[in-house]
Amino acid sequence: MIIGIPKESYPGERRVALVPAVLPTLIKAGFEVHIQAGAGMDAGYPDSLYVDKGARIAADRAAVFGAADIVAQVLCYGANDVTGHLDVPLYRKNQILVGFLRPFGSLEILQQIAQAGVTSFSVELMPRTTRAQSMDALSSMATVAGYKAVLMAADCHPRIFPMLTTAAGTVTPARVFVIGCGVAGLQAIATARRLGAVISAYDLRPAAKEQVQSLGGRFVELPIEAKDAQDARGYARAQDEDFYRRQRELLGKVVQESDVVIATAVIPGKKAPILVTEEMVKGMALGSVVLDLAAERGGNCEISEMGKTVVKHGVTIIGAINLAAGVPYHASMMFARNITAFLTYVVKEQKLNVNLADEIVSETLLTNAGEIVQPRVREFFKLPALAKQE
Ligand code: NAI
Repeated sequence: MIIGIPKESYPGERRVALVPAVLPTLIKAGFEVHIQAGAGMDAGYPDSLYVDKGARIAADRAAVFGAADIVAQVLCYGANDVTGHLDVPLYRKNQILVGFLRPFGSLEILQQIAQAGVTSFSVELMPRTTRAQSMDALSSMATVAGYKAVLMAADCHPRIFPMLTTAAGTVTPARVFVIGCGVAGLQAIATARRLGAVISAYDLRPAAKEQVQSLGGRFVELPIEAKDAQDARGYARAQDEDFYRRQRELLGKVVQESDVVIATAVIPGKKAPILVTEEMVKGMALGSVVLDLAAERGGNCEISEMGKTVVKHGVTIIGAINLAAGVPYHASMMFARNITAFLTYVVKEQKLNVNLADEIVSETLLTNAGEIVQPRVREFFKLPALAKQE
């Protein structure tokens, strides 16, 4: 089977879906890899490195899609709503597509992908299980984003992060407050700690407390308890507006005492809750920074703007999206390892094994034979359930 790697086309996207280091594993498993000329350049992987590891270079995008049985992309159409539509005419029936597809994004786009007849696997839907851990691209990218978020916040903050004792006096450390301690939040805590900041962190899942403390952060306890804070898959459950209102009231003081707030609180398939209001921002010291990692999902900060950095009330509010693309070398390496683990798992002896009894397959399989097939995605878009497939 031929795996094709087109150059990523989303504006500013610098990652690539496979890196040279994973090719020996794929080739040993019986795959051939065709990579569009220059696809890895922006991530730091020239064509020659791919050739050295056994890949064939394809002259252009059409050649990649034309030859590939499997197309792997970081941002497939769906996750790429700017240029992704240009790939649709290149899709071939029964071609396999793997990558980020934003399964709870646009129904219209998902239908176009389904109708093109491609069998697509959405890496966002990978189950959070030990077995699937090596394939979990969402965690990989959240790790990179959490790291990058701290660097961006530190870069535009007027203070130094660590405590310094110098001949010119003592510099006190920056106070960083992380809201939402999932994969990105925990990495932000670890990174800010390495830079010497003092960390406070909060999550509505009580399980996060121990993780925050093990990274050297202070867990902020609020005198409110979320109802069924965590679902069976480990994700936070959406709460009612009353709960969020109480949260905002209680978080206000901590936000105002912080130099930097990094907000990562999201609920899969839902708009992110507003946890930092304009009033809270007004109360922050001049030069403070709010980095809203949830900006793409509606934002945790009332006045962040998706994809933009704005200064309001003397506070810099960063609504950056796609942060992992800003660290393309390692983000691509981690993504490539996740995709390699997935492909070598679902393709055996040159054949895709669509075993719906296996949750790694049934959860990630988004479109097949002309239909959107993922049950949760169908339910989300209020599509009638499909007859049980074999
Ligand atoms: P996420 O990106 O969905 O959400 C980020 C964080 O925001 C979560 O910790 C969530 O609890 C928190 N949050 C949501 N609403 C909030 C609110 N109103 N106030 C405060 N915090 C709020 O989370 P992510 O990174 O995808 O992790 C979700 C869960 O999955 C975690 O329990 C994590 O440990 C688990 N996980 C398990 C893996 C495995 O077993 N292989 C791999 C990766 C994650």
